Amino acid sequence: MVAVMDGKALAAKMQGRLAEKTAKLKAETGEEPGLVVILVGENPASQVYVRNKERSALAAGFRSEVVRVRESISEEELLQLIDKYNQDPAWHGILVQLPLPDHIDEENVLFAISPEKDVDGFHPTNMGKFWSGHPMMIPSTPAGIMEMFKEYGVELEGKNALVIGRSNIVGKPMAQLLLDANATVTIAHSRTKHLAELARRADILVVAIGRAKFVTADFVKEGAVVIDVGMNRDENGKLCGDVDFAAVEPIASLITPVPGGVGPMTITMLMEQTYQACERFLALQAQELNQP
Ligand code: GUN
Repeated sequence: MVAVMDGKALAAKMQGRLAEKTAKLKAETGEEPGLVVILVGENPASQVYVRNKERSALAAGFRSEVVRVRESISEEELLQLIDKYNQDPAWHGILVQLPLPDHIDEENVLFAISPEKDVDGFHPTNMGKFWSGHPMMIPSTPAGIMEMFKEYGVELEGKNALVIGRSNIVGKPMAQLLLDANATVTIAHSRTKHLAELARRADILVVAIGRAKFVTADFVKEGAVVIDVGMNRDENGKLCGDVDFAAVEPIASLITPVPGGVGPMTITMLMEQTYQACERFLALQAQELNQP
């Protein structure tokens, strides 16, 4: 029996719970989570992502601000802007939308965000905490995929998991989360040899390689769980993932669609992390007030 994992429905359910938690927090403390998103330039895809993040933050009852700055902003100016939000206690989460223009060093920018406000989980402090088993903020896409596994009762312990893609945003943190859940994990990428053969051994297949319909039926073992992180356009300009959905669906036991799979969960997890950043901030504030 094939089942499609409905990320849109799960995200809506989690967003509803988050809105309830936020209302309760506001009633009890007078505080609401605040998320600021910085968008440099006018990349069309980034504009859509940022708009969706803003919509989701407002729906959860957060304070939300999108700072749109010109493409030609200098790195120094951008770092100053980040520092302003680092210092401002009204904002618990700061996100700089990627990609950045070529004249700006992405690493310098991501490392400038205070780790306590780094809701993307890209700061080396957060990466280090995560890798060493003490997570604070973790990248949202793999976090969302783990929620989907939970929702659909996917058993990970002892399973063979293959992650195709090795980015810091998806592939590497996904592998770490699967490892934490006691799966046996392999990371593959564009240079991996005999990839289809390797993939056919996987019980869990997570694909984040950024190539339209790259994973075809011959990559998939009967009954495998297939997670598609891709977001591409096919030859007709239609949105599609890294997996050839029509070909793989009959073989998989569970599969995520594109759109409506991983994407909505990513945004929801970002909101969840902003909420948690706010809670941690309030706990720290209370601790400081109680100190003699
Ligand atoms: N651009 C594409 N994905 C992401 C993401 O997860 N975070 C940020 N900041 N930018 C992105």
